[in-house]
Amino acid sequence: MSTAWIIASGKGGVGKSTVTACVGLAMAREGRRVCIIDGDVGLRDQDALLGLENNIVFDLLDVAEGHCRLEQALICLPDEARLSLLPASQFARAKELKPGAFRRILARLKRLFDVVLIDCPAGIERSLRGLLNEEINACVLICTPDDICIRNAERTAGVLESKGMPRPRVVVNRLDDTLIREGEMYSAATVAATLDLELLGEILDDPFVYRATLTHQSPMNIKCDAQAAFKRIAFRMMDIPGVDPLPGYGTRKLSWFRRLFQPTLKEVKRIDR
Ligand SMILES: Nc1ncnc2c1ncn2[C@@H]1O[C@H](COP(=O)(O)OP(=O)(O)OP(=O)(O)O)[C@@H](O)[C@H]1O
Ligand SMILES: [Mg+2]
Repeated sequence: MSTAWIIASGKGGVGKSTVTACVGLAMAREGRRVCIIDGDVGLRDQDALLGLENNIVFDLLDVAEGHCRLEQALICLPDEARLSLLPASQFARAKELKPGAFRRILARLKRLFDVVLIDCPAGIERSLRGLLNEEINACVLICTPDDICIRNAERTAGVLESKGMPRPRVVVNRLDDTLIREGEMYSAATVAATLDLELLGEILDDPFVYRATLTHQSPMNIKCDAQAAFKRIAFRMMDIPGVDPLPGYGTRKLSWFRRLFQPTLKEVKRIDR
């Protein structure tokens, strides 16, 4: 049976598109037929993250408005045939995508793929609400470990609930082991407890992720902490048994050897004028 996932957040720029692209690739490498829908109408980025920016002919809105067939708009990744993208339109406005048309497209995609991942726009307005329908089977909220992001994630969780969506699970992104250990940053478990949501995954703030973007590569093709985290999240989403336990960044006791090389924090000095 096919599963459609919403990947949402409250605040923008917290890693929704990165997580969606990487988790999609991890799932495809495990043999699942995966379709990523770029739901960020007017601000597409999945094509660039997947290296498909020169391959777009038709987009989601063209399919919704009947300008092309669904199959014509789907783009397959050259080196991973099991992963396809339904790109967003670059110049349209979110209100042009009719919720009914989107639901019908999603229903058809669920017949063609094992997993459909919907990369949502930031915020809680019409652009997000229009993507929520009864074809959605599961939701992920991406959150960074700060009060503003948690507050906005709470609002989004409320919108999902009011729209009858399944209870989201949370992925905490951009964690810093040392800051958590020093008590300056919330741990992933604390963020999940504050939101009263199940913790699906935790990802370190990893310089390799941005470097991968700069060099037009996928973080999934680089051996780094984040790559391992994306893989763990994908495995949990696929319900594959025996996945590594959550790492609990910043909360586990360090060995004496690690303690020796643990970086020390510089004090944050306030400048009084
Ligand atoms: N774990 C991470 N470590 C380091 N950089 C990261 C990490 N996750 C995401 N980033 C960087 O953060 C930036 C924003 O990520 P991304 O575009 O995925 O966020 P988004 O939530 O989709 O944003 P928007 O709300 O605009 O759609 C990107 O430059 C990405 O490379
Ligand atoms: Mg995005």
